[in-house]
Parts: sequence; structure tokens; C-alpha cells
Amino acid sequence: MNWVKAVSQERFPEGARDVMKLGDREILLIHERGKIYAVDNVCPHMGQRLEEAEMTDDGFIVCPRHRSTFDLLTGEVKAWAPWPPGVGRVLGLFSKAKPLPVLDTRVEEGAIWVAVE
Ligand code: FES
Repeated sequence: MNWVKAVSQERFPEGARDVMKLGDREILLIHERGKIYAVDNVCPHMGQRLEEAEMTDDGFIVCPRHRSTFDLLTGEVKAWAPWPPGVGRVLGLFSKAKPLPVLDTRVEEGAIWVAVE
């Protein structure tokens, strides 16, 4: 595992979001409620970009397209394609629920670092 310097801590205050390329992956970096999260910027359901996604008070991210919901720390699926009612649930049945890939982060030497494999 390699640690990659993503952004200086000073340029990434509480509430910030940023999208960055790491190799062939697009990573969404989020600073929310004192925590730094790094996740794939692509919903594992049907590929919606997540940089505009809502977050819940529980630390979950909600895909804006069919509202699949993932734990930002673990990537665990909390809801799989529940939207729109009826149609979304049928769409969700065509693909097995997949977790959102997450990456470890750390703050060190005035910067935010992301772990890549
Ligand atoms: S594309 Fe994200 S829930 Fe369908």
C-alpha cells in the first residue's frame, strides 16, 4: 500500500469536497464532521458520479440517481437502489448490491494522505 499526498490540510477545511485522479480511479475526498473520507467517485449501482451526493447525519452518502446509500467509512451498502419507489427497487434487483470502495486516509505533516493499493 502506498500513501499519496492528496491536498494540503490548509486547503481542505471542514465541509470541503474534492475530486482527484489516482491512477485510473477517480476519488472523492470529503471533509465532514471532523473526518476525512476517500471513496470512489462512481456509484457501484449504475455509475453515477457522487461528488454532488448528499450525506446523512449518520455518515452515509446517498447516490443522487437511485438513492443507494453507503457507509462512508466502510463502504457498506445501507440501501440499494430504492428510488424511484417501485421502479428503483426493480432496477436494484438486476444487479447485486456492491459496496462503495473506500480508501484509508490520514492527516500528517500538514497534508491529507490517501492510501492506494
Ligand atoms: S446509480 Fe447510484 S443508485 Fe443507481
